[in-house]
Amino acid sequence: MDKYAVFGNPIKHSKSPAIHHKFAELLNEPVHYEAILAPLDGFSAAVNDFFVSGGLGANVTMPFKEQAFELCDQLSDRAQSAGAVNTLKKLKSGELYGDNTDGAGLVNDLLNNNITLKGQHILLMGAGGAARGVLLPLIEQQPASITLVNRTKNKAQQLAELFSQYIDIAVYDFHELPIANYDVVINSTSSSIEGVLPNITAEHIQSASAVYDMVYSDKETIFIAWAKSHNKNAVMLDGIGMLIGQAAEAYNVWRDTFPPVEQVIRLAKDKAL
Ligand code: ATR
Repeated sequence: MDKYAVFGNPIKHSKSPAIHHKFAELLNEPVHYEAILAPLDGFSAAVNDFFVSGGLGANVTMPFKEQAFELCDQLSDRAQSAGAVNTLKKLKSGELYGDNTDGAGLVNDLLNNNITLKGQHILLMGAGGAARGVLLPLIEQQPASITLVNRTKNKAQQLAELFSQYIDIAVYDFHELPIANYDVVINSTSSSIEGVLPNITAEHIQSASAVYDMVYSDKETIFIAWAKSHNKNAVMLDGIGMLIGQAAEAYNVWRDTFPPVEQVIRLAKDKAL
């Protein structure tokens, strides 16, 4: 069996083993994928042990993505711009390669749901690691504009500065966010995990054709439930497609084969994963 793993803390509820085993089953490939709880002060030792014992590749989740970035000998452009790594691969040379597949997971999920990004006005909520991880892949889709709104405006300003070579990002806090025609509204804040709503008004999402919450859960997220009650026409998606999409990109980095994402998303939505 070819050995892969996901490292995180906590990690018990990770869906990654089920997703990767389903990919391997559908592709008829010999993959073993486990969830590893790394101690908060022992991430690099845990990763090292895994690769020494024959591991071929790994995913990295909270709170270790920035540490994983530091560990790598080589980085993809999208990992470089994210400042974080969610996919590790041991190269034949013995060097550790780091990639970040989160943004591709999001963009592919939007495109697979027939949501246009090119020429559209995007409102991105939140300015943490999740927002940073998806900005370059979003910019590559050539939207007409990206507006960044965050509770702490200063963090949004820093993020906009990081990407200013590619696009001028308008930055606001929630109180001053103009009412404009945002076509695609993406929530990258962790507010849905906390079970609270970000401080956005119905007017901000009324003209949207798509609303996306990067959080996923077995129930509808609080943000998607709220958005549905204020916009009957938009496509509403939570982050399950992004989760499966980033996993598929990682599988492809490791094994040079792209798994059947849509089929696995359907299984997850039918609670059959
Ligand atoms: P992640 O890596 O998931 O992005 P993070 O770096 O801790 O995690 O960032 C969390 C994001 O969610 C931030 O943008 C945070 O806003 P602040 O920068 O002001 O802290 C945002 N966030 C968390 N709870 C929120 C809430 N209740 N309302 C609005 N934004 C919230």
